[in-house]
Amino acid sequence: MEKVLVSSWCDGETVPENYVFPPELRPGDNLLPKSDISIPIIDLDKLHGPDHTSIVTQIMDACQEFGVFQIINHGVSMKTLDETRRMFSEFFKLPVEEKSKFISWDPTSKVGLYTSNYNYHEEKFHFWRDVFTQKCYPLQECIPYWPHKPDGYREIVKEYSVKMIELGSRILEVMSEGLGLEPGYFGKELSQDAEVNLNHYPPCPEPSLTLGTCKHSDRSLVTILMQGHGNVPGLQYCKDGKWTTVDPSPDTLVVFLGHIMKIVSNGKLRSGDHKSVTNKTEARESIAFFLCPTRDCVIEPAKALITPESPPLFTSVTYREFLQAHDANRCFKAKPEDVVNTFIKA
Ligand code: OGA
Ligand code: NI
Repeated sequence: MEKVLVSSWCDGETVPENYVFPPELRPGDNLLPKSDISIPIIDLDKLHGPDHTSIVTQIMDACQEFGVFQIINHGVSMKTLDETRRMFSEFFKLPVEEKSKFISWDPTSKVGLYTSNYNYHEEKFHFWRDVFTQKCYPLQECIPYWPHKPDGYREIVKEYSVKMIELGSRILEVMSEGLGLEPGYFGKELSQDAEVNLNHYPPCPEPSLTLGTCKHSDRSLVTILMQGHGNVPGLQYCKDGKWTTVDPSPDTLVVFLGHIMKIVSNGKLRSGDHKSVTNKTEARESIAFFLCPTRDCVIEPAKALITPESPPLFTSVTYREFLQAHDANRCFKAKPEDVVNTFIKA
């Protein structure tokens, strides 16, 4: 079982056939494309001062146009970010016998270490990545399931999770203000199932043929992503069919709007499509903090956004039902927008 992790069998030479994506999906030789898209970088500190309204506008413009933005001066210290990157990186360096205690593909378990994706066992092609996932909400109930090793793991990852939950709720408050929803609109069941994924992409002998993840939007309300230890590039964002590399920077966090934000905003905000690629020489890591609805939460356009001119575009479903449709529509079976189209009203 433990040999299933890419990091435990890859030898720097072999790429098994079921990791080679068909030509139309593989990245090809242009692994780090550039385009004229520039993802806005927003100084979050200015939310407190006289520029508040202009910062809210910048964020809402980015949410409408891109479904993604970057933030600086976000109030999470470099120490917390760096220590978290180091902890996760060291977790992946633990002996495979230690890590294999956590192997699980069950998306409802509090912690799980798996490879490729949740539907690995049905996939035709696998992603060149291993993922360690853990639930973070409510924190006190989740921490007892987290790893003890490396030393300091629980303490540091707890501090990081507290900061991400705080930051996430600040960002969501801006979005509810920008959309004209009541304060706290996103603060309840819509965001009360936080989890963090550590993505680990080992060096790959043929990066042009393989993928770290395929084009997707996240199944979250919002995701706060940081690129990992060593700042190895590999994240790409897609708008209207054009790809651009999101350059890593140690103090910058990337905020992606997920499918759920698109539904709740009744399509006023878009979700940000992205993927990740591997490279030949270095392992790459990224850390994604997902703010998600609880399983029983009803996902539907916010009532305050519905008018005769703007009727609801999506049907109401529970988040559990949404996930079932999402998992049945995995990216290379269908286009990412099909996940949400499943719920578009006829
Ligand atoms: C994800 C993701 C991208 C990356 O975890 O959902 O898209 O940069 N990760 O690894
Ligand atoms: Ni993603």
